[in-house]
Amino acid sequence: MRRAALLAVTALLAGVVLVGCRRPSPPPPQPLPFDHSIHVRVELDQGTLQCTSCHPGAERGAHAGLPALAYCLRCHMRPQGDPPSPREHLVREAGARGGPFRWIQVTREPGHVYFSHAAHVSLAKLTCKDCHGDVTSWQAAPKAPNQRLLSMDRCLACHRARGAPTHCNTCHQ
Ligand code: HEC
Ligand code: HEC
Ligand code: HEC
Ligand code: HEC
Ligand code: HEC
Repeated sequence: MRRAALLAVTALLAGVVLVGCRRPSPPPPQPLPFDHSIHVRVELDQGTLQCTSCHPGAERGAHAGLPALAYCLRCHMRPQGDPPSPREHLVREAGARGGPFRWIQVTREPGHVYFSHAAHVSLAKLTCKDCHGDVTSWQAAPKAPNQRLLSMDRCLACHRARGAPTHCNTCHQ
């Protein structure tokens, strides 16, 4: 069991060394503009729009998830804002066009890394801010991956500090 895991990690190392020097390219453009700083202030019956309203997987699963266009249209079927910003109508137009719609995930772990939101958010009680910084001030999508989340040393530093597991196959399976 141990041995198999070690072999797997060695194979992974060989693979990573081969592709390691690839230059990172900028992420492709998002399908619509989106401003977090506006939306975390939007009032609903039960308070303001929560992070997990749009990213429900962050409490329940491995992946936080990015919202479907249908979720945006719950509000944007009718113009929002008084007066609406000049780009607000783009949301309705994307809905009317139909067809496939997909946000671009900017920060993504390499395939050999396992990460689970639920373990950190629901079990370890970390906040989104602990790892993602202050998203409530973002006015546009990130232009580059968050390098702090793509660093094994950072993951391990917190795991050591909090007594979370540090053996290789916690994160490499
Ligand atoms: C109304 C829906 C909505 C709400 C509320 C919302 N988000 Fe998002 N979030 C999005 C959309 C859409 C994207 C993709 C476009 C972008 O990055 O701006 C996104 C992207 C992100 C990303 C970037 C993922 C990546 O690497 O590409 C993070 C991190 C994130 N949200 C965290 C949060 C946090 C933390 C909160 C609460 C403070 C929050 N979001 C509230 C809709 C929402
Ligand atoms: C709960 C209701 C609600 C949801 C869900 C929602 N919005 Fe909004 N949105 C608003 C309101 C209210 C405003 C106007 C805020 C203002 O102008 O102060 C707004 C404004 C906007 C604007 C115009 C402001 C700007 O940045 O130019 C865009 C674009 C937008 N939303 C996109 C989206 C997208 C994309 C989604 C889905 C990821 C989404 N919204 C989900 C309520 C919502
Ligand atoms: C322990 C650090 C940590 C915490 C806490 C955390 N995230 Fe993440 N988040 C990550 C990492 C790492 C990724 C990249 C995951 C991947 O590639 O599978 C990520 C990715 C995301 C994404 C991109 C889409 C996806 O499905 O992965 C969103 C959106 C997101 N996080 C939102 C949130 C929200 C909202 C919270 C709080 C409720 C939160 N995160 C808490 C580390 C964290
Ligand atoms: C700020 C602290 C912190 C950071 C940063 C962090 N973790 Fe964790 N992680 C924890 C804690 C605490 C636990 C133990 C959760 C529990 O089981 O109670 C944990 C548990 C885990 C688990 C075990 C989940 C399970 O299913 O048992 C994995 C896998 C994991 N982390 C991967 C990562 C990866 C990969 C990163 C970096 C991208 C990371 N963590 C960054 C604190 C952190
Ligand atoms: C808490 C999570 C975690 C643990 C535990 C962990 N790793 Fe990683 N590892 C990562 C993350 C995240 C990356 C991707 C980011 C990076 O390359 O630093 C990574 C990348 C790697 C790489 C790619 C090489 C590189 O530097 O790009 C190798 C090889 C690796 N880990 C081996 C190991 C070995 C061997 C162990 C056990 C001694 C281990 N890891 C334990 C999270 C972890």
